[in-house]
Amino acid sequence: MKKTDNGQETKRILRDLQVICKSNDCQYIVRSYGYILTYDHVYICMETMAMCLEKLYKNHLAPKDIYFPECILGKVAVSVIQALKYLKDTHNIIHRDIKPSNILIDWNGYIKLCDFGIAGQLIDSLASTSSLGCTAYLSPERIKREKYDIRADVWSLGVTLIELAMLQYPYTFQNPFDLMCCITDNPTPRLPESFSKEFRFFVDKCLEKKASSRPKYPDLMEFDWYKSHQDMEIDVGEWLSAVLVEEEED
Ligand SMILES: Nc1ncnc2c1ncn2[C@@H]1O[C@H](COP(=O)(O)OP(=O)(O)OP(=O)(O)O)[C@@H](O)[C@H]1O
Ligand SMILES: [Mg+2]
Repeated sequence: MKKTDNGQETKRILRDLQVICKSNDCQYIVRSYGYILTYDHVYICMETMAMCLEKLYKNHLAPKDIYFPECILGKVAVSVIQALKYLKDTHNIIHRDIKPSNILIDWNGYIKLCDFGIAGQLIDSLASTSSLGCTAYLSPERIKREKYDIRADVWSLGVTLIELAMLQYPYTFQNPFDLMCCITDNPTPRLPESFSKEFRFFVDKCLEKKASSRPKYPDLMEFDWYKSHQDMEIDVGEWLSAVLVEEEED
């Protein structure tokens, strides 16, 4: 990355470096090997993943009408929740930018979280600054600029899971302001009945508009949908290879 004169951007890069360099003990966070700072560039050495989930669905699944099997989405949820819980428990950090492009998958099927540029320190469990993430995944309380905690990331995970399940972002809107109004005023998006009732229940809970009614990580980990995928033996890497090989053969 080229360094800019923008102090905010430099802070963001340094925050990212601090978090990734001390999170190598979590298997659900992209591994880093160190960084090099020069006077005009920052080089971060990190493990190479195959791609992010946004590219996977937009470039490889949607064009061929292939949907993520629910069991793969279960593994995505387990991996992201484990990573977020680790960040909270170990570093007292909230991620604040959960979305498909910040969840990466490798060729073996391991799913990992990246991009801690706007992660924030929690003080008494509340975020102390209001650094903005991507509007599309912001929870209603963040849009309304109220105080928020890790449950803002739970909301973003809910939107992310629906987007991945449907292969499209769930809100339709005219402009960014309209989108913010949709998130705060419209009924929350829901999964269609073709998905299991456990999955629909899980997503409904993540997308409780009132943050105080939304579950925290230990509660989410007790839900049937989470528990059934936690120890499920599925070869995500094999599924990924099959999807991509099929493409090469076409
Ligand atoms: N370790 C990695 N291995 C493989 N691909 C990566 C890795 N880190 C990032 N990428 C890819 O680089 C792309 C760009 O990432 P970047 O974080 O700059 O943009 P973004 O996630 O789309 O937006 P934002 O800047 O808001 O996070 C990602 O979408 C991902 O596909
Ligand atoms: Mg990113």
